[in-house]
Amino acid sequence: MTIIKAEQIMLNEPAHARKAHDERFAMGSAFMNGSYCGLHEAGVPIVDMGFMHADAAYDVVSVSKGQFFRLEDHLERFEKSCEKFLLINPYSREQTADILTNLVKLAGTQEAYVWWCVTRGMMPADRADLESYQPAFYAFVIPYLYIANDEQRTRGLDVMISKNYIRIPPSSVDPTAKNLHWMDMKLSMIEAVMGQKDWSVLTDADGNLAEAPGANIFLIKDGELYTPDSGCLEGITRKTTLELAREAGIPIHVEPVITSQLLEADEAFITSTAGGIMPINSVDGVVLGDTDGPGEITTALHNRYWEKRWGGWLATTVDYDTSVNL
Ligand SMILES: Cc1ncc(COP(=O)(O)O)c(C=O)c1O
Repeated sequence: MTIIKAEQIMLNEPAHARKAHDERFAMGSAFMNGSYCGLHEAGVPIVDMGFMHADAAYDVVSVSKGQFFRLEDHLERFEKSCEKFLLINPYSREQTADILTNLVKLAGTQEAYVWWCVTRGMMPADRADLESYQPAFYAFVIPYLYIANDEQRTRGLDVMISKNYIRIPPSSVDPTAKNLHWMDMKLSMIEAVMGQKDWSVLTDADGNLAEAPGANIFLIKDGELYTPDSGCLEGITRKTTLELAREAGIPIHVEPVITSQLLEADEAFITSTAGGIMPINSVDGVVLGDTDGPGEITTALHNRYWEKRWGGWLATTVDYDTSVNL
């Protein structure tokens, strides 16, 4: 079995093609605190605390073949992230879904990366007056974005377990609330790229695997699937992968996983909305399973993920034909 060339399909097949859209939305669409605009027109006030202090919660959902995937799950996770950070979304769940749908329609993207956030807004005159904070809502849609393109997923990613950085501790920033504290992940990525690797993986302070920048980590040993139980975002693609594995009768272990387990794994992969299931080829130079390229179970899960999505699994279909009231 070989890895489905999902990117090629998205770019070339008529059922995935971008719909007609106003030139203003050529780069993408945005919704900035109450109004829609082209992506190139979108700007965040420089004194917004989301920008200044990463004082925000966000989420990302994808659209493929004109269908949102697990939109309700993303909206629910977003609500929980806001609650955990004591942030109030000025829009209801239904209004949020409408805004995201309108952005997809404006951009005409049947393959879309849909990002939104709530920040604590601008610094009020009296910081202690918690009632005076006015949360801000920003969102944008761009054509679908891949962490790992077809070429990388076909050969498998070469990853490095970060030597210089650990994932920020959950008691500092709760990783189950999707947040903008990315510096540990960003610097570990730079470390990986400087080491000629594609991606990094971070551990916690005790050496347990946590997650990768923008992605959850999985490994397969003796036909069984392992993923960390804590220290990471409860990724929607992670949840999906666990469901696919269960369907395929693969035994699952959601529990602490140490680095040596990853180095000795038969297969491994990372998961994200921005790319689905992305096979790993090597870890710290060790080729997993002694064979180059994605493993069999990973390939099967990868392909099943896209086949099921394109078959309408947990989908919310976008109606591109009705116009958006700007
Ligand atoms: C830190 C982190 N972990 C994991 C993920 C994967 O989550 P999901 O599958 O919901 O995209 C992301 C997604 O951006 C992330 O930022």
